[in-house]
Order: sequence, then structure tokens, then C-alpha cells
Amino acid sequence: MTSLFKKFLPLEKTHAELVADSGVDPFHIVVERVLSATEAIINGRQMIMAGTNNYLGLTFDPECVAAACEAASKEGTGTTGSRMANGSYAAHVALENELAAFYQCPAAIVFSTGYIANLAILSTLTGPRDVILLDADCHASIYDGIRLGSAEVIRFHHNNPADLEKRLKRLGDRATHSLVVVEGIYSMLGDRAPLREIVDVKRRYGASLLVDEAHSLGVLGQNGRGLAEEFGVEGDVDFITGTFSKSLGSIGGFCVSRWPELENVRYAMRPYIFTASSSPSLIASTRKALQLLYRGSGLRKKLWDNATQLYQGLAAMGFNLGPEISPVIAVRLPASVGETTAIWNQLLSRGIYVNLVLPPATPGGGPLLRCSLSAAHDQGQIDAILDAFSEIRDQLHLHA
Ligand SMILES: Cc1ncc(COP(=O)(O)O)c(C=O)c1O
Repeated sequence: MTSLFKKFLPLEKTHAELVADSGVDPFHIVVERVLSATEAIINGRQMIMAGTNNYLGLTFDPECVAAACEAASKEGTGTTGSRMANGSYAAHVALENELAAFYQCPAAIVFSTGYIANLAILSTLTGPRDVILLDADCHASIYDGIRLGSAEVIRFHHNNPADLEKRLKRLGDRATHSLVVVEGIYSMLGDRAPLREIVDVKRRYGASLLVDEAHSLGVLGQNGRGLAEEFGVEGDVDFITGTFSKSLGSIGGFCVSRWPELENVRYAMRPYIFTASSSPSLIASTRKALQLLYRGSGLRKKLWDNATQLYQGLAAMGFNLGPEISPVIAVRLPASVGETTAIWNQLLSRGIYVNLVLPPATPGGGPLLRCSLSAAHDQGQIDAILDAFSEIRDQLHLHA
């Protein structure tokens, strides 16, 4: 073994202990066959998938699948290079125009993933004279973008506009050179940013605001544009980033802005310039899904009905959940990492797949069972998820 691997030995040990404690290896789950937006075969057994972020259930939508197949057969499987080097395909530009129209913004840039969108924007938009103030619970892609850039970084307490204000105040004149970063729906606990209050603070201090709507696109707002639309504050949000990998059922990311000058940033973003652009099939299915999302108030209603039913059902059983009803439902058990992993495995053996999220990836430090709901879940599936959790509740002797 080369000595380079030595630093990973503690990880190997922790992993081995987890497998020994729980009797399962959660990091090597293989989805053997995908059957639909909500079902798959894992360990030879049919599962209800309740941890996929497939909020509108569009991964098997016939129009999206047909658009992807047609694009692959007409334009090939990949673009084999970046947009700066190889040129943009007409469909990349069309999708940017469609996103700009959807958000009623003058500027939009499409990236290869949502992770890359945050990496590119956060590392490039701000420089050494600028300050980024980010909510402590922001996603890893936001933290990584900041690490790649050169701005000063200040974290404020999660969903705490008063703490944000305190820190902006301390900056004095530099507050006008700052970018506040929050998320529409936070990916781990499913809670929303208090965006009206955050907008109020950022206006008073002359700061700019970026909202990552990865989990709220297609989920919140009358037209599905996310939390800024839901709260009627779109005019005060300077930048929105997001992903195609959740409600749009594809892969890719984007940034839109009310400032046309966003276009100038395109030519300076290394994670945009030095990576291959999205394939024709991904862009085609995303474009189709965006049309369906725009017209998709029925899907949004179904998603929220499902989310409300599962959240209320689990709350009534006495589970400790995230703070509000959301398509992301986090269940915190009174159990160790090993015990939670074993319980997650029991859910699998009952035919229910949810995400097992272990520290340090969780807010608050403890392990989580993270469910995400889809408009494609039917009543029988919601009942089956509730039944499986009910058995776990009995086993843990929880009380409502
Ligand atoms: C808040 C947030 N931002 C960005 C991303 C990255 O998106 P992608 O999967 O497109 O890289 C995620 C993905 O989980 C996310 O939760």
C-alpha cells in the first residue's frame, strides 16, 4: 500500500465498526433495477423508493423519456467537451433562454450539475475584497465553492436573520460588498429559509442575496419557481442557483439573475470553462420537464398531499421530525449511529428505501433517516411507509 492511503485508515476502521454494529453495509447499496419513479429492486427485493428527491416523479414521464431518446439519436450521446472550447449546442442556449423566461430574469447560465453551479458562482462572483455570509446549514457545494474562491467567509446561525443582521452590522461599509447565501428548502431537515426577514435585512445593509432553490424548484410557488416566488420576494433576490437533478428528473444546474451582468461572469468561471457540457439527452429531458413543471400545479398539489400525510402520520406516532411539513421529512431516532443503521436496514427488509444520513453530514450531529416524497407515490405506498415506521415505533417504545 502506498503511504498516501494511510490517512484513510481511520475511515476504514469506522466503516468496519459500523458494519459490525449494524449488520449491514449502508455504503454499498446497489439499485439493481429501477422499475418506476417510486419502485426499484434492491437486494433482490422490490422497494418503495422514499429517498430519491424525485419530487414530481418525472424520471419516467413519457414525454421526457421520448425527448431524451430523440436528442441522443439525433445529436449523439455526449458533447465531448466544454462549451467554451467546443461551442454550445443550440439546445444549451435554448434552455438558458427558457430558464430566463421562466424566472422572468434577464440572465441565465446552465452548468453540468447543481454542484458545479454553486462551485462556479460562489468561487467567481466574489473576490478578496468581498464577504460571503452563509447560513451554517448550507449544502456542501456552497461550502466547496467558497473554499475555491477568495472572499472572506462568515457563517450565521441557521435560519436566524437577527444573527445575520448582527454580523452584517459589524462589517460597516463592507456590508455593501457582501453576498448572503441561503437555501429555499434545506436538504436535510426540510425546513425553509425565513426569506422575507432575510430580504429585509439584506436590503437595509445593501447586501446581495443568493438563494439555492435546489429542493424548492417545482415544489414551492404558484408557478413552481421556489421559495422566492412563494414569499413574493423575487425582485429582491439577486441570484438563484438550482439543479435539474431533483424535480426535473435529469442532471444539470443553473444560475439565474435579475442582473444582466451575470453574463460577464460566464467567462471567468473555471468550473464552467473546464468541464464538459451536458449531453443532448439531459438537456432535452430537462427542457421538457421544465414545461411540465410550469404547468404542473396538479403534481405540486399531489406532492404536498403526500408530504402532509406522511409528516402528520409520523408525528402522530411520536417521531422526532424536522420543524415543518415538507417533501423532505427527517426522522431523528433516539438511537446511536449503529442502531439507526440497523433500523434503516429493517426498513429495507420491509421494502422501504429511505436515505440514511450520518454525521458529520447532518445538522445537529446525530444520524437521520431522511424520507423524500414524490407526486408519484400512491396511497398504498404512503400507507406502506407509515406501516413500516409504525413497527419501528413499537420496537423503540416511542409514544405519541
Ligand atoms: C441544496 C443543494 N444544492 C446543490 C445540490 C447539488 O445538485 P446536483 O445534484 O445537481 O449536483 C444539492 C444536491 O443534493 C443540494 O441539495
